[in-house]
Amino acid sequence: MSAALDIQGLTTRFDTRGGSVTAVDNVSFSVDRGRIMGLVGESGSGKSVTGFSILGLIDEPGRVTDGRVMVEDTDLRSLSPDHLRSMRGRKVSMVFQDPMMTLNPVLRIGDQMAMAVRVHEPMSKTRALERARDALGTVGIPSPEERLAAYPHQLSGGMRQRVAIATALLHRPAVIIADEPTTALDVSIQGQILAEVRRLADETHTAIVWITHDLAVVSSLADDICVMYAGKIVERGTAEEVIGRPRHPYTRGLLDSVPGQHAPGSHLPQIPGSTPQLSHLPSGCPFRNRCPRATDVCATTPPLARFGDHTALCHHPMETT
Ligand SMILES: Nc1ncnc2c1ncn2[C@@H]1O[C@H](COP(=O)(O)OP(=O)(O)OP(=O)(O)O)[C@@H](O)[C@H]1O
Ligand SMILES: [Mg+2]
Repeated sequence: MSAALDIQGLTTRFDTRGGSVTAVDNVSFSVDRGRIMGLVGESGSGKSVTGFSILGLIDEPGRVTDGRVMVEDTDLRSLSPDHLRSMRGRKVSMVFQDPMMTLNPVLRIGDQMAMAVRVHEPMSKTRALERARDALGTVGIPSPEERLAAYPHQLSGGMRQRVAIATALLHRPAVIIADEPTTALDVSIQGQILAEVRRLADETHTAIVWITHDLAVVSSLADDICVMYAGKIVERGTAEEVIGRPRHPYTRGLLDSVPGQHAPGSHLPQIPGSTPQLSHLPSGCPFRNRCPRATDVCATTPPLARFGDHTALCHHPMETT
């Protein structure tokens, strides 16, 4: 069976007055049905632009310049704008950090979910409301029947985000791309939503790309992890491998700066320096100015070091940890 989502060589540029920057640089990964892929990296690394590029939602001054985006057997980049629009929501859905990007504040939850169903599938409103109610139940919303009559502002932030996820699920899409959907929420609510998402992937066989800056979030949720830095995937592998045996010094730095693993009150190590501006990247490895392992060779393009299916774009990957 082919992957639910297969991306090859995806490249997205922004042509601004300050010059052209490559926000997504030759990104490739694939996600099978029922699997969760965590896409991790610091702010500005290109995670959201990757998500938007997959869905064909990049606007001027941005442009996807290269690559292939296969959702099951369809190449999204070869579709007409109308055809692509019909794939969105039906085959591939996006969940945003702010659920109000999905929800309409002036419509009842049931009405807007029923509308979303009927855009792609002709059916009675009663039947569409049943579908909406079932989707709310799937994401663990209690008394879903009653919630159908509520307006978004009558729900808590955690409930609103669950409704947004339920809306993404209405057509049982092959792929859901979730962009930091729990970041704004309380940690215990985050944990509940993550558990529901794991169950969802298992039960509905949806392939999920979970975008986050927080490696701790995906370490418990994801099957596979891609670590992004300055528009590139710098490390990729199963979550177990990437968390347990990080190979790229950047991933090591991210893991070391996860709170909760150090003695209380001790100083939390941080990666020195800050994410470089894409317009001012150093030659060779973009991480080299911040990297404790960097040497002169890092001014040249890093090779893809392979450890079985686990890979790192690095001249000096960690051999053991
Ligand atoms: N509209 C735009 N115009 C110009 N450059 C842009 C635009 N949007 C994004 N970029 C460039 O793409 C880079 C990646 O942005 P992106 O939003 O994907 O980061 P991110 O990893 O999602 O960060 P965050 O964790 O803050 O959400 C930015 O640092 C910026 O250089
Ligand atoms: Mg983002």
